[in-house]
Amino acid sequence: METRAGDPGAFAQFNLSRVDSPAFVVDVARLRGNLSILADIRDRAGIKMLSALKAFSMWRVAPLVGEYLDGVCTSGLWEALLAAEHYGGEIATYCAAYKAEDLPEICRLSDHVIFNSPGQLARFVPQIALARAGGAEFDVGLRINPLHAEGEVPRYDPCAPHSRLGFPVDQLTDEHMEGVDGLHFHTLCEQDFEPLRRTWEALNPRIQRWLPQLKWLNFGGGHHITRADYQRDELVEFLKSVKAETGCELYLEPGEAVALDAGILVGTVLDTHWNGMPLAITDVSATCHMPDAIEAPYRPAMLGELHPSPSGEGPGVGHVADNPHPNPSPEGEGLVVRLGGPSCLAGDVIGDYRLPFPAEPGRRFAFLDQAHYSMVKTTTFNGVPLPSIWLWDSDTDALEQVRKFGYEDFRDRLS
Ligand SMILES: Cc1ncc(COP(=O)(O)O)c(C=O)c1O
Repeated sequence: METRAGDPGAFAQFNLSRVDSPAFVVDVARLRGNLSILADIRDRAGIKMLSALKAFSMWRVAPLVGEYLDGVCTSGLWEALLAAEHYGGEIATYCAAYKAEDLPEICRLSDHVIFNSPGQLARFVPQIALARAGGAEFDVGLRINPLHAEGEVPRYDPCAPHSRLGFPVDQLTDEHMEGVDGLHFHTLCEQDFEPLRRTWEALNPRIQRWLPQLKWLNFGGGHHITRADYQRDELVEFLKSVKAETGCELYLEPGEAVALDAGILVGTVLDTHWNGMPLAITDVSATCHMPDAIEAPYRPAMLGELHPSPSGEGPGVGHVADNPHPNPSPEGEGLVVRLGGPSCLAGDVIGDYRLPFPAEPGRRFAFLDQAHYSMVKTTTFNGVPLPSIWLWDSDTDALEQVRKFGYEDFRDRLS
């Protein structure tokens, strides 16, 4: 999978030895820039814009998010609790399936409770009534599958065949829509405006008859709005016309776009050796710190990388043999070196990089665009330490360590 982010921005000037290693460093100025772009779209289109906590939930910057956006979307009880504790504004909760014991609290905390199937919604009608009788005020939503695939990779495509995410719109009946205040769909991933327009055009005729009874429509996330070449004016015009045509309040809930290119993951080379190509073991682990590098897979961009590896691909692609200039030793600048983590997993490989420095122990490096979907996914597999979390303001150069993790954090997740 090709990632379309990777703009170093102000990190090009950041001295990596100012932080410990490994460490996430988030640039608050870049974050503010992204948030102001999203707020501008929101204001011009007259819609509501939520931040998806699943992508980026560094709650230290919750007040900043709250300055710009209307609230957050959450994926279940724990994110809803985090939202209520730290974030302001609305809370829209969607979960692929709720547990009965979580629902009362979710109803109490959320403004929108969005179900994945009419079946689960119907089973929970008594709990919903009870929550409302107890004073909870929330709308009920239903996630639908528009049956219009725009995804490049099936793993990230909720409209892929047999997808469990959202109720297939061709099965929707009047009975299913009883008590439903809003419809939700989420079908995009790092996409431009056109896929959203096409999705709406495919979906609109299928839901026309229920539009008069709906209060809102939620178009999910996956909109790469803060990427420099995203078609923002077209998005604004589209949202304005859908709002006018349907009379519904519209919601977008981007995650990645909030923190796009706003953070790096700093690491250190621990050791090097040679096995048919130069190898370097680092204190950054793909499996523990950037699992999407394996799962997607994608190849995280490196700060200052001289130029992409010959194939531009991630681990497991046997392109090294095709390298016309095989490197005789792991040292020296500009060599293609395979970087991997300290864990026992043979596949804990980040990728092949033409390093902008000699591959020798102690050297610092950084992967770009790591604020979203990395910090939220870290694990301590193998007892690999969690990266600390730093906040940097590239406008003022203020730098602060927000969180450092220790052995106790590893121990306390186990028993
Ligand atoms: C329901 C829902 N909303 C919003 C998002 C945020 O998407 P993104 O981070 O791609 O903008 C996701 C991501 O998976 C999602 O599943």
